[in-house]
Amino acid sequence: GSALLDLCCGPGRHAVEFAKKGLAVTGYDFSGEYLEEAAARAKKKKVSLRLLRGDMRGLKFEGEFDAAVNLFTSFGYFPKFSDDLRTLKGVARALKPGGLFLLDIINGDFLDNNFKARDWHEQGDHYLLEERTDDRDGVFNTWTRIPKKGGKILERSFFTRKYGKKRMSAALLKAGLKPLKFWGGFQGKPLTSKSIRLIVLARKGR
Ligand SMILES: C[S@@+](CC[C@H](N)C(=O)[O-])C[C@H]1O[C@@H](n2cnc3c(N)ncnc32)[C@H](O)[C@@H]1O
Repeated sequence: GSALLDLCCGPGRHAVEFAKKGLAVTGYDFSGEYLEEAAARAKKKKVSLRLLRGDMRGLKFEGEFDAAVNLFTSFGYFPKFSDDLRTLKGVARALKPGGLFLLDIINGDFLDNNFKARDWHEQGDHYLLEERTDDRDGVFNTWTRIPKKGGKILERSFFTRKYGKKRMSAALLKAGLKPLKFWGGFQGKPLTSKSIRLIVLARKGR
């Protein structure tokens, strides 16, 4: 029955699994479409979720959650670092004293060592072109989705700030969250500059 905040829950794939384990899950995201998908998924799996729509910079919770998660690179989109910090401070405020926060993003140190300006992927009925411009602070991404059989080409641009261990620790500490442990993947491997993922568990002070 512990209370969990799934921040940027998207279509709820993790939120539903946590609810199945008996947690009282609040899913929070700014996409109404994703929240509808999450509601449908919860109904199908016969679990209940509290789903709230909002911007992660504007969290209004106060000491409500035993734990919070932010999974699958759902952090670091804001060109201004102050917005990332506002988000982390909101997470800290939302947690009970001693509450835990698990954050899972692409490892900024990996990006620094393995920069690729473009990538093509084949995904079912379309191709995805990923183009990137790198700067010291982050990566500007443009994704172009090209249907194989013709039709509308969709383009989406977004920024991702590069967080390695040092920078992540500093940001968490600034927000009142103490980093306890880092991993380089969900199999529990240690974090190195070659790890693609950066997973960190942090705790709010008591
Ligand atoms: C990469 S997806 C991951 C979703 C989910 N955690 C998962 O693993 O399936 C990133 C999510 O962040 C949400 N998001 C992006 N910017 C946001 C913001 N400013 N406030 C709240 N949610 C946001 C998107 O709508 C999307 O659902």
